[in-house]
Order: sequence, then C-alpha cells, then structure tokens
Amino acid sequence: MTTRGKFITLEGVDGAGKSTHTAWIADALRGHGVRVVATREPGGTPLGEQLRDLVLSQPMTLETETLVMFAARCEHVRQVIEPALARGDWVVCDRFTDATYAYQGGGRRLGAERVAALEAWVHPGLQPDRTWLFDVPLDVARARLADARTPDRFESEGAAFFERTRDAYRARAHAHPQRIRVVDGAQDIAAIRAQLQADIQELVEGAR
Ligand SMILES: Nc1ncnc2c1ncn2[C@@H]1O[C@H](COP(=O)(O)OP(=O)(O)O)[C@@H](O)[C@H]1O
Ligand SMILES: [Mg+2]
Repeated sequence: MTTRGKFITLEGVDGAGKSTHTAWIADALRGHGVRVVATREPGGTPLGEQLRDLVLSQPMTLETETLVMFAARCEHVRQVIEPALARGDWVVCDRFTDATYAYQGGGRRLGAERVAALEAWVHPGLQPDRTWLFDVPLDVARARLADARTPDRFESEGAAFFERTRDAYRARAHAHPQRIRVVDGAQDIAAIRAQLQADIQELVEGAR
C-alpha cells in the first residue's frame, strides 16, 4: 500500500517570503528522496490560475471574493492536491485555507464562521500536516515589495488591513500550535533556512 504523502503549506502576508522559500523547501525535501509537487493558491490548476488573475485584479464583493478563492481551491484540491497525496507525493503549497481566514476573515472582516463553513464543504478532513507562517511587520513587507511589482488588490490595501490580516494569521497559529510553526520572516534567509531545515528533518524522519 502506498503511504499517503504529507501536505505542507506556507503562509504569511505579501512580502513575507513564501515564494522565496517554497522552491527551496521542495528541493530540500527532494534531497531527502521525497517526491514533491510544488504549487500555489489561488491557482495551481489552469482554471485556478484564471480565477487568480480575476481575484487579484477585478473589483468584487467580499462574498464573491471568498467564493472565488474556494472555487479555485476546490479545483486544486480535487485535481492536484488529493491525487498527489494519494500517490505518495508530498505537496508544498504557497498559501491555503489559513490565507482565507487571514485575508477575507480578518483583513476584510468576514469573520471565521463563513470561512469555516466553506472549508467544511470544500475540503472536509484535509488539513496541512505542517504550516509555516512567515510573520513580518508592515515596514519589512512594504520595503520588500516596494520595487518588486505593481501592487495587486491585496497589496494595495492600507496598514489597517495589513494589521488585521497579520493578527488573524497569528490567531490561527495560536489556535493550531501543533500544525502551524511561526517563523520570524524578518530574519535573513540563511537563518530562516536553518530553522526550516531542522523542521524538514523532523517531518521526513516522522514519515519513515
Ligand atoms: N528573509 C528575507 N530577507 C530579505 N529579503 C527577502 C527575504 N525573504 C524574501 N525576501 C525578498 O522579499 C521579496 C518578497 O519575497 P517573496 O518570497 O516574493 O514573498 P511572498 O511570496 O511571501 O509575497 C522578494 O524580492 C524576496 O527576494
Ligand atoms: Mg509569493
């Protein structure tokens, strides 16, 4: 029987370092002989990437925004994440449902209850085995994004939105301390990798 793979997610506000670390984590796992699928949300499927473009660029109501996130996630879970885990691959995903709790639930003040209802509908029983939350203060995030790209609908929100989103992420970590490890994302990349390396080692050994 194939052993189910592990599901790893990276979370944090824009500029926290998720994309920087996703590829490195995938390579580190491959170095341990693990087959890895590296993916992202919103997106991860052809339809999901189209929904990503829409949700990052088009004005829409909060309810629509939340439903589009879960529509993209529904495709992603069924077409990519579940099949990969079932065949024994590990999945490393840049954002997942914690991001909806943080951005729509916290940042946009939808609250956790509606997000929880959609989570229970779209992926009952599926939770990440490990989540790294890259936590950075506003000034660090802003400085990193300053020259990087044209801000999307979320990146162009103000400081209050940023703080509500960051607080909601930290509340998630507080509520799920076994699953979510908070990483001080303001550290230099080498220091962050040393922390991740130790945790990766533990995960791989735990799976043997
Ligand atoms: N620990 C770090 N120290 C300095 N710069 C970083 C660090 N992590 C990421 N960066 C830089 O900050 C920018 C945003 O990082 P990125 O990984 O794209 O963040 P995210 O995917 O979380 O939005 C990139 O230019 C990246 O090179
Ligand atoms: Mg990114």
